[in-house]
Amino acid sequence: MFSSLYPLVRRQLFRMDAEEAHHLTLRLLGAAGRTGLARALCARVPDAPRTVMGLTFRNPVGLAAGLDKDGACIDGLAALGFGFIEVGTVTPRAQPGNPRPRMFRLPEANALINRMGFNNAGVDQFVKNVQAARYSGILGLNIGKNADTPLERAAEDYLYCLERVYPFASYVTVNISSPNTKNLRQLQGTDELDALLGALKDKQQRLTDLHGKLVPLALKIAPDLDDEQIKSIASILLRHQFEGVIATNTTLSRSAVEGLPHANEAGGLSGMPVRDASTEVIRKLHAEVGSAVPIIGVGGIFSGADAHAKIAAGASLVQLYTGFIYQGPALVEQCVRALA
Ligand code: FNR
Repeated sequence: MFSSLYPLVRRQLFRMDAEEAHHLTLRLLGAAGRTGLARALCARVPDAPRTVMGLTFRNPVGLAAGLDKDGACIDGLAALGFGFIEVGTVTPRAQPGNPRPRMFRLPEANALINRMGFNNAGVDQFVKNVQAARYSGILGLNIGKNADTPLERAAEDYLYCLERVYPFASYVTVNISSPNTKNLRQLQGTDELDALLGALKDKQQRLTDLHGKLVPLALKIAPDLDDEQIKSIASILLRHQFEGVIATNTTLSRSAVEGLPHANEAGGLSGMPVRDASTEVIRKLHAEVGSAVPIIGVGGIFSGADAHAKIAAGASLVQLYTGFIYQGPALVEQCVRALA
């Protein structure tokens, strides 16, 4: 029922400032989740289970990180039929992110540009929110670094967040690919990445012993990588036996949106213009890691066929963000049916 209403809802939301519309939607979803209304309104998505990273997913179509940065609306989002939900990126301390406006729609290109900058309430509040959720499906918790932590000390932020979120996560995503935290993407460099992943795996081992459960780690990478960089990342993932990789985050490229209103805004471009670049990264990464490191494919999925293309390129699961903003919950069901 909600799915068929979405075009109307979208028309109203798209009249508002992009970030205002985003916060309103999250407030409504939060309320719908708490009252059980969301579940009553939403169509049932068929089960299509997959086992990936040692976890069983109800279906292979997840919500990508960044929509619910504080993990405050997990129950409302869960009612929309996603097979898994990823929340965050969270940082050790609360931070405001960049000044507004910082989120822009490019409807002619089915795209968004954002430079949010990891606005979030900090890991203490995040953990409280996650603990308060009733959702019992697969929950990914996505961690990052504070903007004012120097890059040389980035590992400390990731290790701290890992320790705090570990008991509550199905898997933890290490986000080193946001273009909106200065120099963050330098952590994708060979030496930096090798050191960071080594430290995270050591910590994971200690936390496994402490909590009696192994929580898989997934690395989230950018679409703006050349072949050498992809090969280097792949070999580091294999060396450290990382359990998963999420490809991809938003792009810095503007070639597909040149001349459109907002195209020159700083930030990461998402949606249809990043679709093929993201699929290419998945294909190249898969050629390197095979089945040893499962890939979660994300970027520009607007149809069942787009989701299928990510799987055909080597992904085991997919995630939605911008397509979900443009098309609403019907897209979840469409993708699940295409992959069933
Ligand atoms: C994002 N994305 C993102 N990713 C992440 O790991 N942490 C984050 O905090 C955010 N924040 C965020 C905010 C906004 C407004 C957007 C549009 C995106 C990236 C997102 O999860 C996804 O990787 C990309 O947007 C590509 O997928 P889509 O949007 O093309 O389906």
